[in-house]
Amino acid sequence: MKFTKNKGSVKAEIIINGAKKFEEYGFEGKDGEVLVLVEKKRVFVGIEEINAENLKTATVKIIKSLKNYKFESVEITPPNTKNEDLLVAFFEGFILGDYEFDKYKTIKAKHPVKEICINSKREFDEIIKEAKIRAESINFVRDIINSMPDEITPAKLAAIAEEISQKNSLECKIYDENYLYENGYNAFYSVGKASSNPPRLVHLAYKPKNPERKIVLVGKGLCYDSGGLSLKPADYMVTMKSDKSGAATVLGIIKAASEIGLDVEIHAILGAAENMIGGNAYKPDDVLKAKNGKTIEVRNTDAEGRLVLADCLCYAQENIKDFDEIFDFATLTGACVVGVGEYTAGIMGFNKEEINEILKTSEKTGENFAYLPFNKYLKPLLKSNIADICNIASSRYGGALTAGLFLSEFVEEKEKWAHFDIAGPAYVEKEWGYNPFGASGFGVDTVLTYMKG
Ligand code: BES
Ligand code: ZN
Ligand code: ZN
Repeated sequence: MKFTKNKGSVKAEIIINGAKKFEEYGFEGKDGEVLVLVEKKRVFVGIEEINAENLKTATVKIIKSLKNYKFESVEITPPNTKNEDLLVAFFEGFILGDYEFDKYKTIKAKHPVKEICINSKREFDEIIKEAKIRAESINFVRDIINSMPDEITPAKLAAIAEEISQKNSLECKIYDENYLYENGYNAFYSVGKASSNPPRLVHLAYKPKNPERKIVLVGKGLCYDSGGLSLKPADYMVTMKSDKSGAATVLGIIKAASEIGLDVEIHAILGAAENMIGGNAYKPDDVLKAKNGKTIEVRNTDAEGRLVLADCLCYAQENIKDFDEIFDFATLTGACVVGVGEYTAGIMGFNKEEINEILKTSEKTGENFAYLPFNKYLKPLLKSNIADICNIASSRYGGALTAGLFLSEFVEEKEKWAHFDIAGPAYVEKEWGYNPFGASGFGVDTVLTYMKG
């Protein structure tokens, strides 16, 4: 898809609160509603107010609706605003809307629109460049998550990360199961040990010359989560290819950040493993020792993400010096989805200022985050009678928070840390807003904007 200043074969227009104009067509101008007038070579999309989410949705819908026709170029006037966040969102939508996950289909999807014709005297080169990098990274994240588990094994995920590191001149270290075993990453190692596809810990680093800050991003990369011996029921196991979303997200963020050239040193730690069953699977009743020496009583092997992340957090704190912030991204709990719904991520931590800053940033990108506050009554729920901590809480309530609190036990400087539970929005089996069926690439945009500062 290219952006030019040519004349387009069809003209698109975003109608803001303009239902009345098109009453004769039954067009109400609702958010994302589309009207295509083929003979007039016009396409209209409604939005109820101008914000990043609606602009992304509008341009996504324009591209999607034109897939049914043969127009190869579309002409449009960008919104008359100086707000760069809005403009980036507007341009991203064209590329996000072009996304199709059709690699397993014999008959491929149509992509008629190949050219976006910008009808304006203004220059948008810089903004388009950034929008392209962001949207292409989001589509890259979507592809990884949507791909089947037989294809994206931990080793394959590591190979994808390595390929990005070579293209983008990132540092890349890949550690295998032997390294994890021999170096005391027993929690991470145990989760992966029943799979014939062994685990990998990937460490990528983007190091610009004079970085303003240093940020560590840790991602849960469960290439498959069957639940392990605490096996998931059949209906809950489907979609668990998406349990690698956290890792894919942090990979997408470091990819885009390095291409944009952000002045931030970024470390991405991917904890890639498969949670499977087998004669050598880790068991409920096992006690695992994490890298920092803490012992964990396993009472449910389906609470595996926190075990992998605990060791990844230890790895980060041992190997990366003087970072300013450490964020983890994980499809960690079904409880988070129950609590805040599938279109919203839960954000947890001890640093209210940092969290508020992220919440503020999310308004600029149109992603939904809900702050879930810890309290002092939760920690005793993780008490174990035989080990330092238990991998599940003794209460059926507050599962997202107790999972987050479990992770916090592996973080030394707690005010530097925030936890993102993306179990809902990372993967939804229907289209929503500007997102397609399946993987969304949720989180990439907000974290990039946050890091831009
Ligand atoms: N990967 C799942 C969480 C999940 C659920 C992600 C739904 C996406 C959609 C995680 O490993 C898990 O199974 N968590 C358990 C924790 C429980 C055993 C304490 C859960 O949420 O049920
Ligand atoms: Zn699980
Ligand atoms: Zn999981």
